[in-house]
Amino acid sequence: MCEAMGGFAVITAVLVGLGHRSVGYAAYADSHPDELQIVGLAEPDDVRRSRYAERFGVAAENCFRNAKELAAAERFADVAINGTMDEIHVQTTIPLLEAGYDVLLEKPIAPNQEQLDMLSHAVERTGQKVVICHVLRYAPFYSAIKQRIANGEIGDIMHIHTTENVSYHHMAVAFIRGKWNREEINPMLLAKCCHDLDLICWMKSGIVPRKVASFGGRHFFTRENAPAGSALRCVDCSIERDCEYSAIRHHVDNKMWPFYALAGEVNYERGDVTDEVTMRAHVAHSEYGRCVWHCDNDVVDRQSVIIEFEDGCVATHDMVTNSAKGTRRIQITGTKGDIFGDMVDGIFTISKPGAVAGSETVVEEVRLNVQEDLHGGGDLRLVEDFLSVVKGDGGSISTTVLSDSINGHLIAYAADVAMREERVVTID
Ligand SMILES: NC(=O)c1ccc[n+]([C@@H]2O[C@H](COP(=O)([O-])OP(=O)(O)OC[C@H]3O[C@@H](n4cnc5c(N)ncnc54)[C@H](O)[C@@H]3O)[C@@H](O)[C@H]2O)c1
Repeated sequence: MCEAMGGFAVITAVLVGLGHRSVGYAAYADSHPDELQIVGLAEPDDVRRSRYAERFGVAAENCFRNAKELAAAERFADVAINGTMDEIHVQTTIPLLEAGYDVLLEKPIAPNQEQLDMLSHAVERTGQKVVICHVLRYAPFYSAIKQRIANGEIGDIMHIHTTENVSYHHMAVAFIRGKWNREEINPMLLAKCCHDLDLICWMKSGIVPRKVASFGGRHFFTRENAPAGSALRCVDCSIERDCEYSAIRHHVDNKMWPFYALAGEVNYERGDVTDEVTMRAHVAHSEYGRCVWHCDNDVVDRQSVIIEFEDGCVATHDMVTNSAKGTRRIQITGTKGDIFGDMVDGIFTISKPGAVAGSETVVEEVRLNVQEDLHGGGDLRLVEDFLSVVKGDGGSISTTVLSDSINGHLIAYAADVAMREERVVTID
């Protein structure tokens, strides 16, 4: 940590895995150079490594080919921002902790409990800090709800219901054609809904989940449902213009999800991803141009989870894919009132039994200024909070240190066992 002009400490960071997420967090250094400086990189891809070395002005001796090489070198920064893919989070983070870095780690923490325990032990052993990127805790929508609950406005929580509606186009790019399409590597509930399960546990802070049941499966995005006239690739398809899952429609016409569909081929940052010729060529030959009915996906396309907490509170979460509108909804019922809201709309209501004649229910509507991207503004607030934790300033109501993020993951692991084995699973 070095002293910047004005006496504020500047945290120096190494980016580990130069993908869409870590580069997004690093943008905080652009707007707050007196708080965060990117001084090192670790990335196997030569093109990405040199692109971002130039972008952040990182010296050649501080650029490494992977997390292991970085950890083996003498530590030269305060923190590491680990934006590698889900399945290598633990194996890349432990050596960094041992080398003395505090780590901002992307979710999900680990694909199974064994790896989660290994990381927890490494945190205890090294005394380093790990903060998990549960960005929704920082979204104004959820932090405002959490604050109302912490204020005691709806009393003790009796029931929580959350829904994640995964849009048909998000499903297609990430979970059918894309890198989270295999259950064995990236279980869908963990990959997509560890945020929601974390939010449920966060709302119930200090009270642990005990029992989990779950139902779900993949019944829609299967080969059997391929319509007549469909082909293996959208560019060869006779019904492509009428198909709502067309990759040409999503990525070329509507310019959606460039940072997934073009991963690695162009700069992720805005302004450099709208080249139609590049995108059309990419869709023609990459996995992102495959027909959704003829892919190698095996992840569930629906799953519901029921959780019982130790105080008798019941929570349910529904993950529904193929939704026309992608959003998240939450309904919390307490002993003194309830909260109901839609994250994308940025509106929630607090309703309480009326205490005066003629007023059955007293409703307060809260409208938040939500942005369209960056998880409702949560991403950069998360970075700010991480820096405050590292500096020892204590973080915020949203801070997700490792020990605090575990329960949501334990629910996800238990839910998949419960769904597969058709039984209720108890969390120890
Ligand atoms: N917090 C959120 O809401 C949120 C949203 C989307 C994705 N994610 C998570 O963020 C993570 C990153 O996703 P992404 O889309 O940015 O991934 P990405 O594939 O774009 O980037 C990962 C990068 O890591 C690099 N890499 C691979 N092995 C490495 C190693 N050993 N050392 C260093 N770098 C290595 C890859 O080459 C790649 O550049 C995933 O775990 C994903 O699930 C979180």
